[in-house]
Amino acid sequence: MIDETNLPKHIAIIMDGNGRWAKLKGKNRVFGHRNGTEAVHKVVEAAARMQIEHLTLYAFSTENWNRPQQEVSTLMDLLIRALRRELNKMVKNNIQLKSIGDISKLPTEVEKELIDTINKTRDNDGMILTLALNYGARQELTQAMQQIASKVKNNIISPENVDETIINKHLYTQNLPSVDLLIRTSGEQRISNFLLWQIAYAELYFSEVLWPDFNEKHFEEAITSYQKRERRFGKTSEQLIS
Ligand code: IPE
Ligand code: IPE
Ligand code: MG
Repeated sequence: MIDETNLPKHIAIIMDGNGRWAKLKGKNRVFGHRNGTEAVHKVVEAAARMQIEHLTLYAFSTENWNRPQQEVSTLMDLLIRALRRELNKMVKNNIQLKSIGDISKLPTEVEKELIDTINKTRDNDGMILTLALNYGARQELTQAMQQIASKVKNNIISPENVDETIINKHLYTQNLPSVDLLIRTSGEQRISNFLLWQIAYAELYFSEVLWPDFNEKHFEEAITSYQKRERRFGKTSEQLIS
């Protein structure tokens, strides 16, 4: 049973295993990605129903451009279609869409559809659903450092004032809280350049389930596991109890 008084405020998911799921079924990778969008739908609905405040999904990394061109263009296509299909449901469920990553490098139609959907959901004040697209944590930190360096050079900030708050303000996630729970599916236990700064104190949850098979039940299991953990933030267990 989920304890509604102890929900993670921000859940981030590395949705992995579409290709292997398809291969197991003797199908091509694209088939896996198409079915992966069904899992996205289920998890988003479940999170909104549970009143999770922030859900951030890793949809396309800066490294994913290195995949076969055919696969990349199919992924972009699926994204446009999913945005169109989900818009009404996002409005109905009061979900606000956002994105992190350098979306200016996405194909023009994808960028346009994305901005359009973001604008159409901007007045919703329920769950904030953030899609990481052309996102890489090193790229994010690099562009933050460039911006800060330029402000220091132009005397807008002095070096000794560069602190965690200032760094946060230059990240794509500037308006998001730190990640409380990071889930990765498909049995891989790595971060793959996702939210390095923001997961500093996240609880990590690795599921063996391949993404297209991931459903509400698995999502709830991840939250239940999170709720059994003691988040100490450097303190002792005794300190937390008193
Ligand atoms: C995750 O599934 C989807 C994206 C990275 C876009 P994969 O496509 O990485 O599936 P596997 O890891 O090859 O099974
Ligand atoms: C991470 O998955 C990126 C996304 C889920 C979008 P990958 O499947 O690309 O990660 P690696 O390459 O196996 O680490
Ligand atoms: Mg993968």
